[in-house]
Amino acid sequence: MSSTTTAPGETIAPDRAPDPAALAATLPLEDKVRLLTGAATWTLPELPQVGLRTITVSDGPIGVRGTGEDGLPSAQLPSPSATAATWDERLQAELGALMAAEARRKGIDIVLAPVVNLQRSPVGGRHFECLSEDPLLTARLAVAFVQAIQAEGIGTSVKHFVGNETETDRTEYLARIDEQTLREVYLAPFQAVVEAGVWTIMAAYNGIERDGVGATATAHRPLLDGLLKGEWGFDGVVVSDWLATKHTAESALAGLDLVMPGPGGPWGDALLAEVRAGRVPEAVIDDKVARILRLAERVGALSGIPGTVEPYDAHGATEDPAGEETVALLREAAARSTVVLRNDRGLLPVAPTGTDAPRRIALIGHNAVEPFTQGGGSAFVTPPHVSDPLAALREAYPGAEITRHRGGPTTVKAPLVPAGLLRTPEGEPGILIEELGDEGDVLGRLVLPDAEALWFPVTRAGTARVRLTVDLALEEPGVHVVDLGPVGAHRIVVDGVERSRSDREVGAEVILDSSYSNPAHVETPVELGEPRRVRVEADLQVVDGESYGRFVRLHFRYRAPGPSIDEELDLAVAAASAADLAVVVIGTNPETESEGWDRPTLALPGRQDELVRRVAAANPSTVVVVNAGAPVILPWLDEVPAALWWWLPGQEAGASLAAVLTGAIEPSGRLPWTLPAREADVPVPDGIPVDGVIDYTEGVHVGHRGWDRLDRTPAREFGFGLGYADWEYRSVRIEEAADGASPFVIAEAVIANTGARPGREVVQAYLEAPAAPAEEVGYARPLRWLAGFAVVDADPGAEATVRIEIARRAFEVWDVDRSEWHLPPGEYRLRIGRSSRDLRLAAPVPVEDGASQ
Ligand code: BGC
Repeated sequence: MSSTTTAPGETIAPDRAPDPAALAATLPLEDKVRLLTGAATWTLPELPQVGLRTITVSDGPIGVRGTGEDGLPSAQLPSPSATAATWDERLQAELGALMAAEARRKGIDIVLAPVVNLQRSPVGGRHFECLSEDPLLTARLAVAFVQAIQAEGIGTSVKHFVGNETETDRTEYLARIDEQTLREVYLAPFQAVVEAGVWTIMAAYNGIERDGVGATATAHRPLLDGLLKGEWGFDGVVVSDWLATKHTAESALAGLDLVMPGPGGPWGDALLAEVRAGRVPEAVIDDKVARILRLAERVGALSGIPGTVEPYDAHGATEDPAGEETVALLREAAARSTVVLRNDRGLLPVAPTGTDAPRRIALIGHNAVEPFTQGGGSAFVTPPHVSDPLAALREAYPGAEITRHRGGPTTVKAPLVPAGLLRTPEGEPGILIEELGDEGDVLGRLVLPDAEALWFPVTRAGTARVRLTVDLALEEPGVHVVDLGPVGAHRIVVDGVERSRSDREVGAEVILDSSYSNPAHVETPVELGEPRRVRVEADLQVVDGESYGRFVRLHFRYRAPGPSIDEELDLAVAAASAADLAVVVIGTNPETESEGWDRPTLALPGRQDELVRRVAAANPSTVVVVNAGAPVILPWLDEVPAALWWWLPGQEAGASLAAVLTGAIEPSGRLPWTLPAREADVPVPDGIPVDGVIDYTEGVHVGHRGWDRLDRTPAREFGFGLGYADWEYRSVRIEEAADGASPFVIAEAVIANTGARPGREVVQAYLEAPAAPAEEVGYARPLRWLAGFAVVDADPGAEATVRIEIARRAFEVWDVDRSEWHLPPGEYRLRIGRSSRDLRLAAPVPVEDGASQ
């Protein structure tokens, strides 16, 4: 890159792009500091005098939400733990290309994804947003995703650096992780994406204690400046998680480059003052600005021509998130992710034609009625549609009569109130909202069409509170339930009776702890004889969400009179016994899996265990479909004929389920985490800080390594998945690389598809260390760890030769005393198989003392 000085009006030829560092040094200090805090929630400041346009960012990783201003839906991917179950880097890359195209369509420069924190405990609230419990699998898939997105000129922000495995008190806790574990486990995926050239890294909310130094992630100098930028040579931007930055000089000196969101926050004028006082050298600021300009150059936001900003280049945009190619890719991804947990007597797939084709299918379960397609929190996107399981099964099984029964609700809260019931006091459809001043004077009035709109921004100056008035036009006799969840100080009156009151004002913390999306709620039963209107009045606080803006939030839910849970269960079981095939879709729901909180239990919500047991007893052809992102306990798993783990499948939910059931697409998923049989067996059962500290005492024994070490038997182990084919593992041959070459070792395995259908296999390679007690060598080693894998397709009867590349790093340990990677010599054992506990081939791999780098 050439160094350039730009005179006004001078045009820079494309091959003479401005040098970010030189450009940074030419700017006035005020402008430089201004560039280091967001302009708004999702944008960075522009600086026309250097030809810098606004850079716009958006969440991932489930899709590209956009800034919320375009009102356009977004392609909704299966959640990361689902796509990780494919173990397929090619598919990750295709999904990455889709993310890039979606970013283009929405005018986004940087996608805030992927999440490479690990699934340390199954209770973690963002478990579904992470890829895997395994560092190698996470790293490889993240690299494929990042490279595919960045190849299209869209940036990624790999998050959350580092130790953000818990949601409980997430902005407060300190993750205490020993150095070997940090290097080998939690930093490993970050290191891989840095080596792959990632453009931005997001610093987490939590703190990290390393080498006895505890600091919040945005102000952790040894980690940001020392390791990430120094040792690893990261040349991109370190951005704070949203509202995460707590310090001015400390975070600036530590290596944080960009405070998000803005405006406001701890930098700005405060940072300017620190620089002027000499506490933060201007060179530190220059480096940050150079990094931001480099990022701008990478995403095409820097023309380098003073006064001229580059227009956003929408080239390569997805035309339509519901377009044919997108739909096909998302359907394939969801189907391929699906894991066959059990398939007794080959019940699956169920052919739609032929003598055995089902004539009557009972589709059962809360999640069959309302599929849970994505978890809650910042990753949330609004899809163009959600493919309905009933409609999809009807299309896939045209010869069958298909009925659907919920079998009881699984959510504690009622569904959103239907818009059709809402009337203003004047009798018009909708909800009346009055914006009130300090004295209760009415400053403005508006009518909201439905309760979905009940998170609305308050932009009118002087609005202190909001009064909501609505009549529910209820007709059916029976008990109606009005279910209201206010955020912040409030007073709620239903049918003339005060039902809830609080004077406790809240602030932006409700966004960070996600309580605005899961507030405490109050239910009011209303007994109705004759049709009448029931008035709901609410006086609500306007919450100051700082850079997220001022807003009002009320969850407005309602349950109509209807059958009891017992009656719904009976109906579902009766339908199952009258059918040739029962498909029971069970799982979690928006109350269970979300950013902002961890799960208190791994049990299925509601009475779903009872539902499964009763349906399976009523119909010998029962397929259980688990619609969840993170592990739930399935106590009946080995008693039902067939079970599939269907994940949080994204917008093509129904279509993917139909493809899996009919066998149009093989569900070739393999668990990227361990499925516990009993809650008591889980090696890391919670992520609750003790005195503000989460101690990663299990060390390097994360996930399946912990299960192996403790010799506990899970319901299904890491790497497990039956698919629809059968596989024989025939031989393995080890090829060692010439000195210094990468990969270090190649395992060539020969396998054969001995089943009746074409199949896809994920061949997994695990390493076992030479025998040496920990005290002798001074470092911990897992019993066995994932060292490589490869995905292969084979037709029935065909043999396939699979080459699994194993990097030198897979053999190495972090030597804490010397602060370097070390390759312990000895005879390693490479084991190849279908899962972490179904290992069918083995080969010794001798490593000599002093094997060259
Ligand atoms: C989340 C990040 C997200 C950011 C912006 C934070 O609360 O932790 O993952 O990118 O919000 O929405």
